[in-house]
Amino acid sequence: MSQSNPQSDPKTTHFGYQTVPEDEKAGMVHGVFTSVASKYDMMNDAMSLGIHRIWKDAMMDWLAPRQGQKLLDVAGGTGDIAFRFLNRAPEATATVLDMTESMLFEGRRRAEATAKGERLNWIVGDAMALPFAGNMFDVYTISFGIRNVTRIADALAEAYRVLRPGGRLMVLEFSQLPNPGLQWAYDRYSFNVIPEIGRLLAGDRESYQYLVESIRKFPDQESFAVMIRQAGFGNVKYRNLTFGVAALHSGWKL
Ligand SMILES: C[S@@+](CC[C@H](N)C(=O)[O-])C[C@H]1O[C@@H](n2cnc3c(N)ncnc32)[C@H](O)[C@@H]1O
Repeated sequence: MSQSNPQSDPKTTHFGYQTVPEDEKAGMVHGVFTSVASKYDMMNDAMSLGIHRIWKDAMMDWLAPRQGQKLLDVAGGTGDIAFRFLNRAPEATATVLDMTESMLFEGRRRAEATAKGERLNWIVGDAMALPFAGNMFDVYTISFGIRNVTRIADALAEAYRVLRPGGRLMVLEFSQLPNPGLQWAYDRYSFNVIPEIGRLLAGDRESYQYLVESIRKFPDQESFAVMIRQAGFGNVKYRNLTFGVAALHSGWKL
């Protein structure tokens, strides 16, 4: 009888459409975001025609930040979510955690131009092993980050652990369009236009090819809602944004 030997048969995962050893994915994702960091904000606007701003505002509308809340924004990159949260709840505090130093560097630079510096913390870390005690935060957000994480279930378990009872998780992520015709049109745009914009504006076709492939590999709305429930969250709901190009998922640590 043959048995699988973990050393000759390492666990694999996907990096876009490539199959890679699980322990190599984080380094590859880190490489992508180190490469795009200095142009990340400009490229977000160029590729989405500014629509990512509307989605992030929709996230805040549903989240309804309140005075005094402690936010943890994981995979927070250049700080878009934390800035919005603090704008809406001036007495709140925010911790932005990301595994890519150069993304946080850009965020810190942006924060220096505002008066929010004292209410913001920037921490290098991994969504799958958060460097915090349990029950510490009122709100956990992750925006366009979770599809890059090697083991999504581990990140959700960590979100549950660090939230206080009564705390809320909200995820903004690319998703699948329920209408096949629209999905077809969106795929044509994604695969033909986005890597080309990456090449022309950032001189980096590959990173943007990874971006569109990783979007197609991410679970659809219902499957992702199941994963959130399996992590222990209650009252899990989602809302489609722009026909399902992106979706917001909300859950509570009850
Ligand atoms: C597309 S950016 C999103 C940045 C920001 N949240 C936004 O919405 O604009 C994805 C970020 O996820 C980070 N990331 C990917 N995997 C991570 C992990 N395991 N732990 C922490 N951050 C991670 C990357 O470094 C990158 O900054």
